[in-house]
Amino acid sequence: MKQLPLPHTNLTASNVILGLMRISALGDDDIRSLVGAARDAGINIFDHADVYGSERHDCERRFGQAVSFTPAEREAVIIQSKVGIRQGSFDFSKEHILRSVDGSLEALNTEYLDVLLLHRPDALVEPDEVAAAFDTLHEAGKVRNFGVSNHTPGQVELLKRSVKQPLAFNQVQLSITHAPLIAAGVASNMAGLDQSIDRDNGILDYCRLNDITLQAWSPFQKGFFDGVFLGDRENYSELNDVIDELAGKYDVPAAAIPVAWIARHPANMQIVLGTTNVEHMRDSAAGSDVPLTREEWYRLFTAAGYILP
Ligand SMILES: NC(=O)c1ccc[n+]([C@@H]2O[C@H](COP(=O)([O-])OP(=O)(O)OC[C@H]3O[C@@H](n4cnc5c(N)ncnc54)[C@H](OP(=O)(O)O)[C@@H]3O)[C@@H](O)[C@H]2O)c1
Repeated sequence: MKQLPLPHTNLTASNVILGLMRISALGDDDIRSLVGAARDAGINIFDHADVYGSERHDCERRFGQAVSFTPAEREAVIIQSKVGIRQGSFDFSKEHILRSVDGSLEALNTEYLDVLLLHRPDALVEPDEVAAAFDTLHEAGKVRNFGVSNHTPGQVELLKRSVKQPLAFNQVQLSITHAPLIAAGVASNMAGLDQSIDRDNGILDYCRLNDITLQAWSPFQKGFFDGVFLGDRENYSELNDVIDELAGKYDVPAAAIPVAWIARHPANMQIVLGTTNVEHMRDSAAGSDVPLTREEWYRLFTAAGYILP
């Protein structure tokens, strides 16, 4: 498992993250098996959000109830959570951030979060309020590092004018089949081509220029939660052919290749897996350091439907 020093923090983390968004209905034993197998595979970072599950803090609570860490084990893992999504609104107010983080800590049964991310941009954000909330959380030892998710460069810059702590992460949707943040740059300035449309104001280049670690969520989803492309031969037959060929070449399971495609990008991204299946987790994690060649990386990109002008 490839480990990455994470800029702006003193953390070193696996480049594969286990996301816990889908554990709501799992029993304690299944959660322990999943988390234990992830640790055995070299994963040391776990992604949560206050909003995951059937009610607030549901998945965090399932994790906190099922998994207990000794103090030394707790220091050896990185627990990340998010705040800002509420029923019917987004909310980066100081009051909501503080209340929700307290709820996350209680549910996760931990005294601190290693990382807190602002989940989705709040149109009504007051950067000074975010800054005050982050100062309070940092000074109290409740949150050690901060970042954002789904934020454009301008939104990060706006926050940075007030927030003292580094914004070290931006978690964004990215898979081979949902790659506008990479594909637009490849086809820049092409009139009449959908792929050329910049939908995120240049997140990728901005994050690289500022050493902000990108975390790729939904690495197996075709688009926005509309199913997995792996094995979908009806819609992605060419892509699955290339995936199978490369899996054979590198002697890894097919699920390793979509992870390897993201890991191969020189931005040193992390890949957030959402599987609740131990075998799928192991298979995917095997993509952490598969050394795809430049030609192979581009073959996967074009087999997914993107063009090289
Ligand atoms: N920041 C954000 O806005 C945001 C948004 C969404 C998610 N996230 C984070 O990202 C994580 C991942 O998101 P996601 O769950 O959508 O990602 P994903 O890993 O692309 O999708 C997970 C789904 O794909 C299936 N799957 C995964 N590997 C498979 C395989 N090898 N074969 C067949 N099916 C497979 C899983 O089923 P099985 O369980 O049966 O394997 C599950 O239904 C979440 O847990 C969460 O932590 C963040």
